[in-house]
Amino acid sequence: MRVLGIETSCDETAIAIYDTTRGLLANQIHSQTDVHACYGGVVPELAARDHVRKLPLLFRAALIEANLRRDQINAIGYTAGPGLQGALMTGAAFAKGLARALQCPALGVHHLEGHVLAPLLEEERPQFPFLAVLVSGGHTQLIAVKALGDYALLGESIDDAVGEAFDKSAKLMGLGYPGGAALSQLAQRGRRDAIRFPRPMIDRPGLDFSFSGLKTAVALAIAAGKDHADIAASFEQAVIDTLAIKIGRALEQTGYRHVVLAGGVAANRPLRLRLKEMMDERGGQVFYPPPILCTDNAAMIALVAALRLERGERDAAAGFEVRPRWP
Ligand code: KG4
Ligand code: ZN
Repeated sequence: MRVLGIETSCDETAIAIYDTTRGLLANQIHSQTDVHACYGGVVPELAARDHVRKLPLLFRAALIEANLRRDQINAIGYTAGPGLQGALMTGAAFAKGLARALQCPALGVHHLEGHVLAPLLEEERPQFPFLAVLVSGGHTQLIAVKALGDYALLGESIDDAVGEAFDKSAKLMGLGYPGGAALSQLAQRGRRDAIRFPRPMIDRPGLDFSFSGLKTAVALAIAAGKDHADIAASFEQAVIDTLAIKIGRALEQTGYRHVVLAGGVAANRPLRLRLKEMMDERGGQVFYPPPILCTDNAAMIALVAALRLERGERDAAAGFEVRPRWP
């Protein structure tokens, strides 16, 4: 089965083709960062309009990359939520229109299930059950992944997501938007113990996070005239310590030995190294999907759709409902 995946939940337009026997055949991504950069955040209406413009182009590019004709597509998976309503609707409409034209089934997919299962696209993959650490601009979640479709949310951020904390702190330091990667780069030149930022919520039981206080601490350090590289390094260290402590607790609680780090912040090198050390010590293993599969992409959506379609799942409604909020 060859499944076309479509992702338009936020500011990436993506189309991929996944073959259930040959693997990933095409993975096209267009980032809208340039469209939104001057606004300092994603503008939903602009996102939706740009998806509409780019979807047909990416579809054609994906067919060329996979060396397929459109009638060789057997099924379509698209992100039905969570995400920006208008943005989601462009992908759903494209998927449903194409499914009708090709007379093939379509299936709406949960965006986070995509992130959580993305590492299964790799040859070296985790085994069920595993702990998924989802760290992106919109999410900070620890998820017990027991089997396909069997997930338990163990903990999440009660306010800002990790990537959001990175981006807001970067903005305060004039590093542009989204500035997570730039902040991490600046941190390489700073001292990680220069400023004692809080490790939020580690003295409380449970696996939830809170990162909005860190951003305030960063603002105070900037106002106090501290060196920006030191602020960046100390901030990054505080985030990594906090994540590592809670991940350790989640592993103790579940007894799992495999961890997957996913989402845009999974590109963070010091975080990767820390988790690697941690899992080596514990005799476990951590899996990092390559950056292209960590950030928003359609390959993960095509994969989830393929797994679910193989089980006989199909979209119920003839219309194209999307779920901007989907627990
Ligand atoms: O998953 P993703 O591409 O999409 C959104 O959730 O929007 O994640 C993007 C997030 C942004 O907040 C970005 O600043 C952050 O990932 N990010 C990083 C790094 N690279 C990207 N944060 C810390 N260190 C990095 N190297
Ligand atoms: Zn995402």
